[in-house]
Amino acid sequence: MTGDGPRFVWIDGSIRAAGEPHLTVFDRGFQLGDGVFETLRARAGRTIELAEHVARLRASASALAIDLPDGVGALLETGIDELLAAEGLDGADGDASIRITVSRGSWASRGLLPPSDLQLRPTIAIQAWPVLPPPADHLERGLSLVVSSIRRDPANPVVTLKTTSRADYVYARLEARRAGAEDAVFLTMSGHLSESTTANIFLVRRAADGVEELATPALDCAILPGTTRSWLLRWAGGAGLRPFEGWLTRDELAAASEAFVCSSVAGVLPVTRLNGHAIGDGTPGPWTLRARADRDAVFGSR
Ligand SMILES: Cc1ncc(COP(=O)(O)O)c(C=O)c1O
Repeated sequence: MTGDGPRFVWIDGSIRAAGEPHLTVFDRGFQLGDGVFETLRARAGRTIELAEHVARLRASASALAIDLPDGVGALLETGIDELLAAEGLDGADGDASIRITVSRGSWASRGLLPPSDLQLRPTIAIQAWPVLPPPADHLERGLSLVVSSIRRDPANPVVTLKTTSRADYVYARLEARRAGAEDAVFLTMSGHLSESTTANIFLVRRAADGVEELATPALDCAILPGTTRSWLLRWAGGAGLRPFEGWLTRDELAAASEAFVCSSVAGVLPVTRLNGHAIGDGTPGPWTLRARADRDAVFGSR
């Protein structure tokens, strides 16, 4: 291992030094990307929306017939507490991003199909990193997105799961880097907005009836059902924006008064350019900054 990463990992019930070997090469997560994961945040040693993340982990695992152990929620809660304490991220100013990874487990045989006559024991790992504030210019200037060449099929049952098979997302990120952008946004097969490589996307616009809306692609637009997305849809009404979930085009994103992406780890981040063209006036919008501030106020500031 290289770099100044975490000093420890939690794996299958115990804390281990980060630099020592943890997995067999036969692990199907390594061989096939046959696994699922979650990323979440903890402030001052307290996880944010852990129950929602465990529920989504269960849903992803269940869709792939990965058998999670009974009481996995309590196991993960204990594991996160132990790891945050070991890393010194549980203090009053602790701000951690946490990754929970579950692979189907190891199996010495070749091939895609897991055995039908025995359940493999899943490998469960937890990692934690200190969260650094986003670069100032991401908040002041906003993110630049490009449209990925990869189209997403809403009929694909795997596309809405948080699986460890992330080749499409890595490919899209490389496309963004080559174009000098921070991230890429996926479109569906019909050319509608889906999501970015690690976040859900929102735009603010004035609807035909004159009401200001907070609009985001619907759950059937090949998106991950984001926990931050759900929070923002609940937040919108109270803040004075009408929430809208539906099918949105890239032209509607380009014509929005403002736009942002959101995830548990990064929170709300302004998006000010699409394929090199300004969205709105090309600066982070007031609703975006308010959404970020309001979420920080609820879950602890940063
Ligand atoms: C592809 C994708 N979409 C959306 C999200 C946002 O989900 P959440 O708000 O639950 O972090 C993530 C975050 O992990 C993601 O990887």
